[in-house]
Amino acid sequence: MAKIVTKSKYPPIYRQHIFLPYFTHFACHNRVKNHLGKKDFSNLRAKKKKNIQRRRKVKAVCSRKEELAAAAAMTVSPSLSVARNGRVLIVGATGFIGRFVAEASLAAGRPTYVLVRPGPLHPSKADTVKSFKHKGAIILHGLISDKTLMEKILREHEIETVISAVGGATILDQIALVEAIAAVGTVKRFLPSEFGHDVDRADPVEPGLTMYEEKRKVRRWVEKSGVAYTYICCNSIASWPYFDNTHPSEVLPPLDRFQIYGDGTVKAYFVDGTDIGKFTIKTVDDIRTINKNIHFRPPSNLYDINGLASLWEKKIGRTLPRITITENHLLALAAENRIPESIVASFTHDIFIKGCQVNFAVEGPRDVEVGTLYPGDSFRTLDECFNDFLLKLKDNLEPVHEENVSTKNAVVESRAVTPTCA
Ligand SMILES: NC(=O)c1ccc[n+]([C@@H]2O[C@H](COP(=O)([O-])OP(=O)(O)OC[C@H]3O[C@@H](n4cnc5c(N)ncnc54)[C@H](OP(=O)(O)O)[C@@H]3O)[C@@H](O)[C@H]2O)c1
Repeated sequence: MAKIVTKSKYPPIYRQHIFLPYFTHFACHNRVKNHLGKKDFSNLRAKKKKNIQRRRKVKAVCSRKEELAAAAAMTVSPSLSVARNGRVLIVGATGFIGRFVAEASLAAGRPTYVLVRPGPLHPSKADTVKSFKHKGAIILHGLISDKTLMEKILREHEIETVISAVGGATILDQIALVEAIAAVGTVKRFLPSEFGHDVDRADPVEPGLTMYEEKRKVRRWVEKSGVAYTYICCNSIASWPYFDNTHPSEVLPPLDRFQIYGDGTVKAYFVDGTDIGKFTIKTVDDIRTINKNIHFRPPSNLYDINGLASLWEKKIGRTLPRITITENHLLALAAENRIPESIVASFTHDIFIKGCQVNFAVEGPRDVEVGTLYPGDSFRTLDECFNDFLLKLKDNLEPVHEENVSTKNAVVESRAVTPTCA
């Protein structure tokens, strides 16, 4: 301002007018006109007018910015407040996938409620519940098929998010849970037991198809109820994908021979259990995930089974024979309808022969890839996950040197397999 004043040809009395938005005094206006003459006066007016316009523009931009900031705050703050206060009820937390979700919820510092089925628990599940409790979880007992009880629980504990990770045998029990959620009307988000493929897209042979039809039925029920939902399509768990084992990540990759499905070139995504839990919990109060399918496609974890075999060979420092499991073999096993092995065989066929994880693009209006939501958060790579298996192997080195090593449950506790999988 001082610079402009020094350069000004106007007498000091008028200089201030250049910087005032309006002529506030008529006498002053005339004095200026007389002093400057008609031409300079109209130049001065034009300059003032321009100045005023510029100020108005600046003001408009500022208020638009404020408006946008306010809108952003309005959309972000409720989710943040949910993040701090939102109570999460996890059903199936003693299960394979549910454990990861409950751990992540507790690690994120959320008020975490865990619904445990009444009755005696397998010792390892009892330990899991004890550990949740130790970390601050509130343990409740009940069955999700009991609508009245579920309503009571949701109301009494002011639950805002319900995550279900019930297994394949009880997928339809979730219908009563959805009805309870809708009746209570205060739950802000429901995540049904998905945790695998996009069941509206994937089309496995029977008996896997029946399970997908049940999951589809639950989806339609949720959508009809008007409850906000998120479907977690996390693809495969990071491990060697045994075609007859529902929880392969509890088992070491092969140490005797690889069974390669088809020509072994169809790719799939392998996601660490802790990342399934972590990213699931991230989505629950994110407005961008309301009524969306959330696909987990970390590029570092996209492998075909030949690549998976090579990765494991690199880790153990030796090569293993490869045996082909043909498409027909998988179909025949699926047709035997042995539960759960046939269900797993049908999914294995869908993944490694038909390519159900990679044969579509994540581009529909209801599809979101989780990496685009949280670009700052990395996934554990499959390489890292296989290092974990290597550590387990080293911790249990003795059995490896024995003849006829059985890799199935060689180093981890054996658990009853239930008819579930992706
Ligand atoms: N992406 C993958 O690779 C992959 C792998 C496996 C599973 N999955 C999917 O993940 C989901 C969970 O499967 P999972 O294998 O983790 O299941 P799971 O190990 O069989 O565990 C099921 C859990 O649900 C509880 N539960 C079952 N019915 C219930 C009911 N009516 N009321 C209350 N609790 C009930 C069980 O309680 P109890 O402890 O009393 O039995 C258990 O905690 C399924 O949708 C499955 O398809 C995906």
